[in-house]
Amino acid sequence: MTWWRRAFPLDLAEESDFSRREFARFLALVSAGFTTGIGFLWWRRKPLEGASDPEPSPTTHPVALGLVSDLLPGQSRLFKYRDAQDACILLRTSKGELKAYRQTCTHLGCAVRFRNERLECPCHEGIFETDQGFPIQGPPTRPLSAIAIEARPDGSLWAVGERPKPTLETFGRQAHCRRESSEEKA
Ligand code: FES
Repeated sequence: MTWWRRAFPLDLAEESDFSRREFARFLALVSAGFTTGIGFLWWRRKPLEGASDPEPSPTTHPVALGLVSDLLPGQSRLFKYRDAQDACILLRTSKGELKAYRQTCTHLGCAVRFRNERLECPCHEGIFETDQGFPIQGPPTRPLSAIAIEARPDGSLWAVGERPKPTLETFGRQAHCRRESSEEKA
């Protein structure tokens, strides 16, 4: 027997048994973790990529947004629509149009803000146009969820519902065109 075997009396057969056993345990743990993860995703039933919009609410009550004259062109204001978690943004474009959207970016859910005539997401530089909320730059591929607003004869402004989502076909075509035109300008 060599000197180092006497100094380190390891049983190689036992050692490889141990390693195989450990490896099998490791594999079992990884499989269990994987299965649990898939089960959790299935249970949530949410897409892996993208922030999902809230479920449509069967009843939405009008929410007062102040006076139409309160908001000047280029300004925006935050409000809550359905509940305290439903953060939305009301804005007035430089042309004087009033628009309202959910603040939730459709990429990974950061809050968008109104700057330079567009809605910008600070997380990954996603940009949405203000007319219909279509994404025109960055990772988002779906439009923002739009809130319908109504100006009443007394000058008050109300959030009165959710604007219908564009169809996939319309969305694809318009988003494509807008992306193209914004790339051409660049
Ligand atoms: S979360 Fe808005 S661009 Fe990524």
